[in-house]
Amino acid sequence: MTKRKKLYEGKAKIIYEGPNADTVIQYFKDDATAFNAEKKDTIAGKGVLNNRISAHLMTKIEEIGIPTHFIKSLNMREQLVRSVEIIPLEVVVRNVAAGSLCKRLGVKEGTRMHRPLVEFYYKKDELGDPLVGEDHIITFDWADPYELEEMVAMASRVNDYLSGLFSGIGLTLVDFKLEFGRIWGEHGELYIVLADEISPDNCRLWDSKTGEKMDKDRFRFDLGDLVEGYQYIAEKLGLIPEGGIIKGGSINEQLAERLDNIENELAERRKLRDLKAGKPRKS
Ligand SMILES: Nc1ncnc2c1ncn2[C@@H]1O[C@H](COP(=O)(O)OP(=O)(O)OP(=O)(O)O)[C@@H](O)[C@H]1O
Ligand SMILES: [Mg+2]
Repeated sequence: MTKRKKLYEGKAKIIYEGPNADTVIQYFKDDATAFNAEKKDTIAGKGVLNNRISAHLMTKIEEIGIPTHFIKSLNMREQLVRSVEIIPLEVVVRNVAAGSLCKRLGVKEGTRMHRPLVEFYYKKDELGDPLVGEDHIITFDWADPYELEEMVAMASRVNDYLSGLFSGIGLTLVDFKLEFGRIWGEHGELYIVLADEISPDNCRLWDSKTGEKMDKDRFRFDLGDLVEGYQYIAEKLGLIPEGGIIKGGSINEQLAERLDNIENELAERRKLRDLKAGKPRKS
């Protein structure tokens, strides 16, 4: 394999240069971190599952008309995505109180909100990604009011869609984090697309009947095997066969590759939005 240029290495993924200027490759690592990287571990197979789950959810979201950066899966751990300028915000949507919300406001974990709560966090590791309000975002030019409105509208649609999708397979979408990016069209027009990943690393998913946590909280609070939880989600989504593709830390690579190919066929059949053909929102 030719040596590719590494553009950025984060905690969970590596971004490599793509085959052309407007694409990059996202490589999903097995590294798990929590509490601003205070807790760290490597969990065999996590990257494979997140790549699989994120590719699938991005494909489904694109199908309902929301533009995403996802183009196609390349292999077990890598996907080709559109290169974007990341908006330095984490957009969090919450349906049920959990995590930092409970700590910050003293709300009881498990409280269902009567409306989804949308929060913004400024992406700045050194500061521990602090909670910010719309005024901060506009004052410091992290995003303009149009972008903000679009991100909230897109996040709400993603929430409605994913809540339904997960509830259909017996999982409650408690909360999730999204990142958005900017792409400029050939006439200099701006598009906002959903970027990064949607996986159990940044969604809270609870078994609707038992309340068992299937997401990264298993790692954060030592609640059980992380791969088991992620495989359960992938199985329920119909992405891997019953029994999973990872056993005792070893991955059935042949099967993983076959599943990748099936997923790509589905991705190709979906209508990928041609951003250039879209109506520019502003110039
Ligand atoms: N399509 C894209 N084009 C360019 N950068 C992207 C794209 N999608 C995601 N990214 C960025 O790539 C990085 C992915 O790495 P990772 O998720 O491991 O980062 P991280 O350690 O969580 O750090 P960060 O706080 O920057 O998210 C993130 O910084 C993310 O914002
Ligand atoms: Mg990240």
